[in-house]
Amino acid sequence: MALRIDPWGHTTIKEYEKLFQYFGIKPFREILSQIDKPHKYMTRGIIFGHRDFDKFWKLYKEGAKVAVLTGFMPSGRFHLGHKMVVEQLVYYQKLGIDVYVAIADAEAYSVRKIPREETIRIGVEEYIANMIALGLDPDKTVFYFQTKQDPRYYRLIQMFSRKVTFNELEAIYGELEPAKIMAALTQVADVTYLTHRDLGGYEMLLIPVGADQDPHLRLARDIVDRYSRELGLKPPASTYHRFMTGLDGGKMSSSRPDSAIFLSDKIEEAKRKVFRALTGGRATVEEQRRLGGIPEQCTVFELFAYHLIEDDNELEKIYNDCKSGKLLCGMCKKKAAGLLEEFLRKHQEKLEKAKEKAREIAEKIAPEF
Ligand code: TRP
Ligand code: SF4
Repeated sequence: MALRIDPWGHTTIKEYEKLFQYFGIKPFREILSQIDKPHKYMTRGIIFGHRDFDKFWKLYKEGAKVAVLTGFMPSGRFHLGHKMVVEQLVYYQKLGIDVYVAIADAEAYSVRKIPREETIRIGVEEYIANMIALGLDPDKTVFYFQTKQDPRYYRLIQMFSRKVTFNELEAIYGELEPAKIMAALTQVADVTYLTHRDLGGYEMLLIPVGADQDPHLRLARDIVDRYSRELGLKPPASTYHRFMTGLDGGKMSSSRPDSAIFLSDKIEEAKRKVFRALTGGRATVEEQRRLGGIPEQCTVFELFAYHLIEDDNELEKIYNDCKSGKLLCGMCKKKAAGLLEEFLRKHQEKLEKAKEKAREIAEKIAPEF
């Protein structure tokens, strides 16, 4: 059977290397040297793959009109997995690149069956608010709800539907119900409409996403070719980051509260999750001293690498001390819990104000809510 990725699924992608082989995603490390000040996700291999990032970067360097766009489905509480995407947006925004954020309320409505009002409320209070608190500049970022888009964006979806075949969808996604077909075509509009001559006229968009979103990008790349002359649509570049493993070892997901740290978690609650998290430690202290731990399989180490430790030397020391058996998981968890507490306290202080700002934005972009 063909290897397929289900963007709505609950399985974790374990073998990232396969994505190179099967889908033609390129290893990010090959282009790392082109970037003057790479983000830590780039140097740490957390952003592991890309399509056409080199083209995008060249255009950016030449001063061409480019933008970064990503999207979030407003289906639950905002957690550390979402924060990973926002960090990347902040990074590009600081480089002077225009940033757009789709709140995928149409997708949450049709695929997750969340009531419309609820998708908007979650979009504003959870997603937009947390993004602002994480440092995305509310005055420079364009947030939009899918259902509030220009009719010409919807017209694109209709045009795409005419040219895409069922076989093509099936080859990418397997069997799809109509709601998911709608969501997929809507996402194709998200990642292309800004290159439309009349809707933005960008030379190229970069879409930073988790690796599970690649099917949509493959579809987009196939479809836009058919509209490049007529509308000026251009294929998006994309980067792919690894997912954080859920703290319980599964996929990090809003639907399993113990798998994720939510940015609005009570401090004690968040720390409790860290203390219960799955580590790469051995069964006994004696064994750990003798064999060392396995940081590659440790969700606490991921917390450090993805979120809590900026300094590469410090991270490397933890890695080595774990491997050599010097470090024990208890000590390590204490450190992680302490750093997490510090981060959450600061973040939650900012969150209150950010919520006000998010509501102001909502008055403009979703006025009746
Ligand atoms: N499907 C994405 C998710 O489930 C959300 C999304 C919608 C998106 N439109 C997008 C992501 C455009 C990136 C780009 O989270
Ligand atoms: Fe993970 Fe730390 Fe234990 Fe190593 S010592 S397995 S990094 S918790």
